[in-house]
Amino acid sequence: MANNSIQSSNEISSIGRLAGKTAVITGGAAGMGRAASLAFCKEGATIVILDIQKKAGEALVEELRAKGSEAHFIETDVSDEGQVEAAFDQVAKLVGSYNVLFNHAGTIIVKPLHETSVEDYDRLMAINVRSAFLVCRRAVKEMSDNGGGSIVITGSIASELGYPLESVYCMTKGAVLQLARSISAEYRDQGIRCNAVCPGFVKTDHGLREISELDSAGQEWEEGALDQAQGRICNPEEVAAAVVFLASDESSFISGNALYVDNGWYAKG
Ligand SMILES: NC(=O)c1ccc[n+]([C@@H]2O[C@H](COP(=O)([O-])OP(=O)(O)OC[C@H]3O[C@@H](n4cnc5c(N)ncnc54)[C@H](O)[C@@H]3O)[C@@H](O)[C@H]2O)c1
Repeated sequence: MANNSIQSSNEISSIGRLAGKTAVITGGAAGMGRAASLAFCKEGATIVILDIQKKAGEALVEELRAKGSEAHFIETDVSDEGQVEAAFDQVAKLVGSYNVLFNHAGTIIVKPLHETSVEDYDRLMAINVRSAFLVCRRAVKEMSDNGGGSIVITGSIASELGYPLESVYCMTKGAVLQLARSISAEYRDQGIRCNAVCPGFVKTDHGLREISELDSAGQEWEEGALDQAQGRICNPEEVAAAVVFLASDESSFISGNALYVDNGWYAKG
C-alpha cells in the first residue's frame, strides 16, 4: 500500500500511528474504552481488553477480528489483585510483551458526602484507585523489562476541580492523576511515559448516568449548565483520539501531563 493512500475503516493499518504497538486496555469493552479499542486497532495496534463485561468484550473482539485486527478479551475485575495478576499472565501468553497501557476502567457514585457510606467509599476506591495501582504496578515492571512504552490513565475534569455530590469520585480521580505524574517521574529512565487524559462530560453510560443523577439531585446539568461548561457533550471518539496521540510516538516528549478533553472547561474554571 502506498504511504499516502487513504485506508478504509475496514482495513487494519500497517502504516497506522500505532503500527507495531501492543496495547492493554482496561475498561475497553464499553464507553470511551470501546472507542479507544476501535481507534487503537484502526491505527494498527494489537490489543488486549480487560473488562468485567464478557458479552460486550467478546462481541467487540469479534468485530475487530473481522476487520483484520489482532484483538483479545480477558474477563477481569481490575479491582481484584488475583484477577489482575492472572489476566497479565494471560496477556503474556497471548501477545508476549506490550508497550502501551490504557488504564481506563472506572465508575462513579453521585451522593452527598454526608450520606456516603464506608461501603460506597471502599467500592469507588477499589474500582477507580486500587485497580490503577494493581494494573500499573504490574505494567511498569513488565514495560521496563521490555524497553518501555506509554501509559495513559483516565482522570477527569474532577481530577483537579471539586464538584458537589462527587467528593469521593473527585478523590479517586485526583489520586489517579497523581499516579500518572509519579510514574512519569519514577520510570522515565526505563523508557516509560505516563500521562492522564482528563475528560469533561462524555456521552457514555457513565456520563449520561452521572448527568441524570446530578439532575435528579437538583444540579440541572442537562438544562444549560453542561452547555455553559463545555459547549456540548463530548463524544467518546474525541477522547479516544487524545488517547491515541498519547499512546503513539507522536507524543514522544510528553510525560507527566494531564490532557484535558473538555472544550475549555478547566481553563475557564
Ligand atoms: N463519561 C464521562 O463523562 C467521564 C468523564 C470523565 C472521566 N470519566 C472516566 O471514564 C471512566 C469510565 O468510562 P466511560 O465513561 O467510558 O464509562 P462506561 O461506564 O461506558 O465504561 C466503563 C468501562 O469500564 C468497565 N469496568 C468498570 N468496572 C470495572 C472493573 N472493576 N473491572 C474491569 N472493568 C470495569 C465497564 O465494564 C466498562 O466497559 C472512568 O474512569 C471515569 O472516571 C468518564
